[in-house]
Amino acid sequence: MYKTLLTELDKGMMTITINRPDKMNALNKDVIAELGQAMDDVYTNAEVKTVIITGAGEKSFVAGADISEFLSLDAAGGAALAKIGQDSVFNKIENCPKPVVAAVNGFSLGGGCELAMACHFRVAATNAKFGQPEVNLGLIPGYGGTQRLTQLVGKGKAMELMMTADMIGAEEAKTLGLVNHVVAPEELINKAKEILLKIQTKAPVAVAQVIACVNDAAKCNAHGFDNEIERFGACFTTEDMKEGTGAFLEKRKPVFKGK
Ligand code: COA
Repeated sequence: MYKTLLTELDKGMMTITINRPDKMNALNKDVIAELGQAMDDVYTNAEVKTVIITGAGEKSFVAGADISEFLSLDAAGGAALAKIGQDSVFNKIENCPKPVVAAVNGFSLGGGCELAMACHFRVAATNAKFGQPEVNLGLIPGYGGTQRLTQLVGKGKAMELMMTADMIGAEEAKTLGLVNHVVAPEELINKAKEILLKIQTKAPVAVAQVIACVNDAAKCNAHGFDNEIERFGACFTTEDMKEGTGAFLEKRKPVFKGK
């Protein structure tokens, strides 16, 4: 179905694998277009409950935007590349009402680090390496990296990482709060699935509201507290809230319908 992606749906979990291992899974125009389509499918396909994004092969998650597409660009072309990517992929992932986790298996550089950061959280293999090396190319991050790295690791460390272009390993990324878990490469997908299976037992509408509220906080939305009040109230109109509270009082496990 896709030229540059592999997709698999298993127990409600959609795994999207970027599949250009000979080019370290670099994000060319085709990958960006197909990731946008895959995310549209995630939004609309009721069978998809949660999502894992990963890279093909053992060396790389994604080693950045495809540098070979940069040479012909001028200011407007560069800005358009960044805007199309942000609108059609990165923001769509971040704002997705279904949980999206990055399973980072190797190099996660430039647009790869930005892709991982657009996901709701990250699980990394011990061989994962993170960095924003754009200044080596005379560039800056363009897929949201200056914003999301600062949100995740704080201003000082974000400044240092983006100005030095240093690569950091999985354990350091965990210490900085860039990744939540570090596991052996062969355990990576299982770890992501284990967490997502747990989330799939929770009330889906409430999970979607958590995503929206936390995104407000990350973006310093001045209305974050008011939005939380409104979304908290909205939860009371769901069947799942009646089921969850009813199940607690009846001392049984809830069965949520996502309604
Ligand atoms: N864009 C386009 N092609 C890329 C790429 C990228 N971001 N990253 C890797 N590739 C290609 C290489 O050109 C090479 O292609 P070739 O076999 O046709 O020559 C292939 O992927 C393998 O990469 P190679 O550099 O030989 O592997 P390596 O193990 O020596 O190094 C990296 C791996 C990730 C350290 C190195 O490829 C790299 O620094 N990539 C660029 C990272 C970057 O600057 N990203 C930010 C872009 S904005």
